[in-house]
Amino acid sequence: MNFKELANKYQTPLYVYDLDYMTKQYEALKGAFRGRKALLAYAVKANSNLSVVRHFAKLGAGADCVSIGEVRRAFLAGIPKYKIIFSGVGKGDDEIREAIERDILYINLESDGELERVEMIAKELGAQARISIRVNPNIDPKTHPYISTGLHANKFGVDINTAKRMYIRAKNSQHLDPVGIHSHIGSQLTELDPIREASEIVADLVRSLQAIDIDLKFFDVGGGLGIKYKDETTIDPYDYAQAILGTLTGLDITVVGEPGRYLTANAGYFLTKVMYEKKNDDKRFVIVDGAMNDLIRPSLYNAYHYVEAVDKEGETSRADIVGPVCESGDFLAKDYELPALEHDDLLVIHSAGAYGFGMGSNYNTRGRSAEVAVEEGQDRLIRRRETFEDLIALEKEFLD
Ligand code: LLP
Repeated sequence: MNFKELANKYQTPLYVYDLDYMTKQYEALKGAFRGRKALLAYAVKANSNLSVVRHFAKLGAGADCVSIGEVRRAFLAGIPKYKIIFSGVGKGDDEIREAIERDILYINLESDGELERVEMIAKELGAQARISIRVNPNIDPKTHPYISTGLHANKFGVDINTAKRMYIRAKNSQHLDPVGIHSHIGSQLTELDPIREASEIVADLVRSLQAIDIDLKFFDVGGGLGIKYKDETTIDPYDYAQAILGTLTGLDITVVGEPGRYLTANAGYFLTKVMYEKKNDDKRFVIVDGAMNDLIRPSLYNAYHYVEAVDKEGETSRADIVGPVCESGDFLAKDYELPALEHDDLLVIHSAGAYGFGMGSNYNTRGRSAEVAVEEGQDRLIRRRETFEDLIALEKEFLD
């Protein structure tokens, strides 16, 4: 990929996505489940640009959505309704109503209270809502605490006994159709054992539900497959599929996956230009035009992203790469070995295709970056850079 050319053509800061890499990842994961009924529902939150979602739609993917906004994006991007899933702990009544009216594949329920709301709204609509219940298997996924979800200490899902009660209630309701079961223990998972254990617990529940005549069609294992940011050992998609399928012997059930990061993270690059170098005593800072409002992962999780100094060589020394935002927490990397840099040199922050742009903000009245897709050697704009006018558009009319 010619980052310099892209930076000159579209300016910086800039997100660039390699769609062919996304295809490769999708095919690898899909291929691992070959011979089994399986649906990969792309976790839209990882990178919700319409053109990215459209790309997955063309590959045959479904969509896992966590707000009605994401559901609408999935529809707009051309994902068929029978491949759209709606998850999340706090769905509003309007969101539930729209999801039922749009007749999506199923709604993932995360509490008793939510089951009641969905039942009530389906009744009002004279409909039957297809539901799945998110089970919290109480498994430690061994990942960053902010992205760990499968422990009872986390807000997600319900325990096994509650799930059972909810399934029985759904089964006895005219307005609910229990079709699936869901679990997602965390994100950026690099160990297989917790995945296998969680899958076993959930599969056992599926069997015990069968015994009371509740036959589920979808076994939704969530997302979470980790990727290499630095030197992590990652899980091979084949081993991942085998670990899950191994727990499903004797069950005729469609496996649903909700991968996000695995499909898009290493397809994405964040391009930023050096503005200044400075030293405070011995401490070296490289000040760039991208900031925490563009890519918050380093500030929020202390996440590591590989940084490439394009066409720069020579002796290196440690520097913090910081942005123009007025926060000490505004950094893209800390103590990173970099060669001497000058105004306009280009830095490429790797692995930025998941939870990058989407977690961005307009903090400090900074317009969000443009996004560019590269496919078969051709680049194209898929979101234009935000202007000052865009940022004030919703406020201007209220100025007295
Ligand atoms: N399904 C559910 C129910 C989820 O909660 C998530 C992610 C996914 C699927 C997709 O997980 P993935 O395959 O991308 O790991 N902002 C954080 C990650 C938050 C993940 C939230 N849930 C980060 O930048 O690391």
